[in-house]
Amino acid sequence: MAVKDIMDALKGVSLEDLGLKENLAQLVKDIKLIGNDLNVLLYLPKAGLEDVLKRKVEEALSGVPDVKRIDVKFAQGAPQQSAPPPPMGQPAFTKRNVPGIKHLVAVGSGKGGVGKSTVAANLALSLAKLGYKVGLLDADIYGPSIPTILGLKNERATVNERNKIVPAEKYGIKVLSIGFMLPSEDTPIIWRGPMLMKALTQFLFDVEWGELDFLIMDLPPGTGDVQLTLAQNVNMSGAVVVTTPQDVALADVKKATSMFREVQIPVIGVIENMAYFVCPDSGKKFYIFGKGKTAEFAAAYNLKILGSIPIDPEVAQKSDEGVPVVVSHPDSEVARAFFGIAKLVAQELG
Ligand SMILES: Nc1ncnc2c1ncn2[C@@H]1O[C@H](COP(=O)(O)OP(=O)(O)OP(=O)(O)O)[C@@H](O)[C@H]1O
Ligand SMILES: [Mg+2]
Repeated sequence: MAVKDIMDALKGVSLEDLGLKENLAQLVKDIKLIGNDLNVLLYLPKAGLEDVLKRKVEEALSGVPDVKRIDVKFAQGAPQQSAPPPPMGQPAFTKRNVPGIKHLVAVGSGKGGVGKSTVAANLALSLAKLGYKVGLLDADIYGPSIPTILGLKNERATVNERNKIVPAEKYGIKVLSIGFMLPSEDTPIIWRGPMLMKALTQFLFDVEWGELDFLIMDLPPGTGDVQLTLAQNVNMSGAVVVTTPQDVALADVKKATSMFREVQIPVIGVIENMAYFVCPDSGKKFYIFGKGKTAEFAAAYNLKILGSIPIDPEVAQKSDEGVPVVVSHPDSEVARAFFGIAKLVAQELG
């Protein structure tokens, strides 16, 4: 169940009987599904059509599961055809600052599963422990994992009287994830292109973040539409890229680095995750995926290595339990690596 199903249902409603050539979906200016509440903003093509359009929306969506309450509002003006996004690197768009946020930092990677979300969460918490005001935004709309990592699986988003989304608070940071908007944990998300864009920008601009020193953003893996949308619409202070020291991961992280540079987002540095394993008995370090590969890559791309994080089974276990390692084991080698990275990020951004 997603906004796509709702739009599909609205698409099927002809407005010929009202003398309009558009279908109902084409009148939609904005649409938001928060939990079971659907807010629809429609263009009003003619005065006096409010009631009939409202009724048509309600009828069209009566069979759509998960929509319990429908609020229809109207906007003046004509429906617009959405323009295709400009090609990469072309400054045909205006980037906005997120109000109240000093530094917006994206955490990206080329490959999936290298520990991006783990790094984003622990980096945010480490910055908070250093005394900064911090927020964490889960921009991985395809596979949000921040709710699990921070033990916020049952959290649902609320909207305040100013119509702003209120982030959750956990372990001293503000947190928002698309996971908070879904009826249940296993709801698949199928967003239409323009909807995706809307949801993402809404996530930044329509949120009661307050004043923050850092907003850390967990991106989906790769160099897809989410990255581009954000890069084109939002002023970011910079990005950190996460990799593991394997050839397959490094090949992809090169693409991610090039993408950030192409869209003029400075790459603050690279974080090497799962870099080595410390034998608990002997304290000896084992470089499971090989040593020195990340350094070679960083040198070739003129990048700083912000830190190397060892593999530690505790990280995975505590993450699954909703307690990130810098909270559960602040004195561990892994946590110390995260604090070091946080200091460098803060230092790099001034
Ligand atoms: N240093 C580490 N030591 C041990 N396990 C780790 C470490 N870093 C991450 N993990 C584990 O690896 C798995 C993948 O991590 P995570 O979800 O953070 O990756 P990701 O890059 O965000 O993945 P995706 O591409 O799916 O978003 C998780 O189970 C996590 O707990
Ligand atoms: Mg992730």
